[in-house]
Parts: sequence; structure tokens; C-alpha cells
Amino acid sequence: MDIRLLRPSDIPLIQHANLENLPENYFLKYYLYHALSWPQLSYVAVDVSRPKKTPYDYPKIVGYVLAKMEEEPTDGVQHGHITSLSVMRTHRRLGIAEKLMRQSQQAMVETFNAQYVSLHVRVSNVAALHLYRDTLGFQTEKTEAKYYADGEDAYCMKLDLGFIKDQIEEEADGEAKDEGEAVGDVGSDPAEKKKRDAAEKEKKRKVKVGRGLGVGELVERVETKKE
Ligand code: ACO
Repeated sequence: MDIRLLRPSDIPLIQHANLENLPENYFLKYYLYHALSWPQLSYVAVDVSRPKKTPYDYPKIVGYVLAKMEEEPTDGVQHGHITSLSVMRTHRRLGIAEKLMRQSQQAMVETFNAQYVSLHVRVSNVAALHLYRDTLGFQTEKTEAKYYADGEDAYCMKLDLGFIKDQIEEEADGEAKDEGEAVGDVGSDPAEKKKRDAAEKEKKRKVKVGRGLGVGELVERVETKKE
């Protein structure tokens, strides 16, 4: 099984999976809007073990997560949103949905500095509620009455993504330590080291990104200043 980023060419298969698995269905252009606006956030699970009948056979997509960033967050906090998630019946309880969700959450933090992720789920959807609440740690924010077209209520759920940010920082710290102290004449001089650190700091400045998409937030980028 491969978990990889969604490509625009996967969209017909995802739409098919969505129609099979959920009553909430979307026009093709809505999938395309996700794939083109936030190409880092949506993933598919591909059954690569499936025998190909012809060399042109497309590997079977057995699950997907369709995700986005909230363009104009009402609370002013940068956050992601899970639009749709499903796994084909034949491939359930194998941990695929959990993996898809974790991949998307990681990308929300790494790419867009998301503070949390939100979603809506039917109050009767036992399997999804177990996944969100018990496996992934989502919390119910509120119940939205008659959220769905058939009149069913939705739980509005949220997961704070601070723990992913902490993991990323810890890994970065670990890598920095692994590099160890510089060796040789240059590295051994504390005054030289101070100078290099100051020069490195000078190279970093804050830049605004993604304003056009409504996902603007200050992120740190290494930008070499023009002399
Ligand atoms: N009953 C109880 N708990 C379940 C069930 C179930 N049938 N299925 C999954 N879980 C929970 C369990 O806690 C499980 O952990 P465990 O196996 O260690 O006990 C955990 O979820 C992880 O399970 P996965 O194997 O990763 O889940 P799966 O790949 O089977 O997909 C999903 C779960 C997506 C809910 C699937 O059942 C499905 O596609 N259902 C129909 C579509 C759907 O309801 N999608 C969610 C709608 S909400 C939205 O899209 C935002």
C-alpha cells in the first residue's frame, strides 16, 4: 500500500470512492480546487499490489483524504480543514484512514503553520467518531443542528496541532546536535563562531507568503540579502 500526495489525474477515482462511501458528494471542480490550491494537503492510498491487466491499468485508489486551509478563519487563527475522508469497504480497519489523516495534519503544520485542524462528522458515524476522537485525539467543539442535507446533526471537531510543531522542533534540535562542534582551526575559535552565528541570523528574515490564497501568515525563510 502506498500513501502519496493526490494528483489532479487521481480525481475521477477519488470522486468514485467518495460516491461509494459517503452521501456528501461534490462536483469535480471542487476536488480540483483542493488539488490546485493546497496540493500539499490531500493524500491517496493506492493498492499497488493489485495485478495489472494491461500496462496502462491505473493502480486502484482505495482511500483518500481531501483537505484544505481555511481561507478566511472567523477566529483569525490559521487552521486546516478536512473536507472529506473515506476508505473503500474492502480495505477498512487496516490503519489507512489514520495514516492519511496524520500525513495531512503533518503537512498542514509544515507547509502552512496550521495551529489546529477542524472537521464535521455525522453524530451517528460511529467508525469515524472512534477514529477522530479515540485514535487521533480530536475534541468536540459543538454540535451543529441539521448540518447535513437530510437533517442530521454534525459534531464540529477540532485537534490542536501544537504537538506536531513540538515534534518538528525536537527533530531539528536533534539534527543540530548530531552535527556536533566544528573541527579545525576555524571552528575552535569562539569569537569566529559568534561572528558566523550573527551572520547566519542576518540572513534570516520574515517574509509574507500565501496572501493571495488567504492563507497568509508570517513564516521564517532563509533569504540571502542582496549585497
Ligand atoms: N468501528 C469502530 N471504530 C473504528 C471503525 C469501526 N468500524 N473503523 C475505524 N475505527 C477506529 C478505530 O479506533 C481504529 O483503530 P483500531 O483499528 O486500532 O481499533 C481507528 O479508527 C483507525 O482505523 P483505520 O483502519 O485507520 O480506519 P479505516 O481505514 O477503516 O477508515 C473510515 C475509517 C474512514 C471512517 C471508514 O470507515 C470509512 O470510509 N467510512 C465511510 C466514510 C466515512 O464515514 N468517512 C468519514 C466522514 S467525516 C469526514 O469526511 C470529515
